[in-house]
Amino acid sequence: MIKRRLYAAARLLLVAMALSLGAVSPALTEGKPRLEISESDFSCIRDMTPVRGFFVDSLTGDLDATLAVANSPDGGAYPPGSVVQLVPTEVMVKHPEGTSPATKDWEFFELTVSPEGSKIAKRGFVDVNNRFGGNCLGCHAKAKPQWDMICETGHGCDPIPLTKAMVSVIQKTDPRCESMPALSTEEKQLLGQLQQLLR
Ligand code: HEC
Repeated sequence: MIKRRLYAAARLLLVAMALSLGAVSPALTEGKPRLEISESDFSCIRDMTPVRGFFVDSLTGDLDATLAVANSPDGGAYPPGSVVQLVPTEVMVKHPEGTSPATKDWEFFELTVSPEGSKIAKRGFVDVNNRFGGNCLGCHAKAKPQWDMICETGHGCDPIPLTKAMVSVIQKTDPRCESMPALSTEEKQLLGQLQQLLR
């Protein structure tokens, strides 16, 4: 009986040691917790919660905390677990504090999306580029500090070459969504232009 308890204690100690070394869980780097994120965490952009022109979600189930910052007129730091998207193929996810000071703990993702779902083409912190060769951090770091690297318009970032109408059509035609809202004639024309642009 005592022997069994000793074994159990020894096993616990080993697990604790392995955890503190980051040997057991790849989610722990230098003892700092990281969120495990995989392609199944991303799906139809319109199932997320709209905030002005972009969408947010929470991987830790605390959407209210994410929305509080997104809707604050003074900005603030997004809580860990926050997911932010403007277009289906580009995502920012907030990790726990200390994960990546250079990016204020944001991880950048470039996805390829299809009716089958999302594939992660690129992910990382300082060195992720979008499909046009632009470095995510290079632009997003220019947002004034109170906006926590969220660009929108007027936060200090260099603009992207997409109008609000183009962004809206791209959101409406996310191939991962089960249904597609009807497009107006203008939107159909815009979609054609965008497809030419991305070819
Ligand atoms: C040329 C600069 C530039 C590059 C490069 C860039 N972005 Fe952005 N991004 C912007 C701007 C500007 C906006 C806001 C556009 C708007 O709301 O009209 C934006 C919007 C976003 C948003 C919505 C939240 C916000 O900041 O407004 C996300 C998420 C995002 N980008 C992720 C990425 C990711 C991931 C990459 C790299 C794969 C990337 N961006 C590359 C400039 C850039």
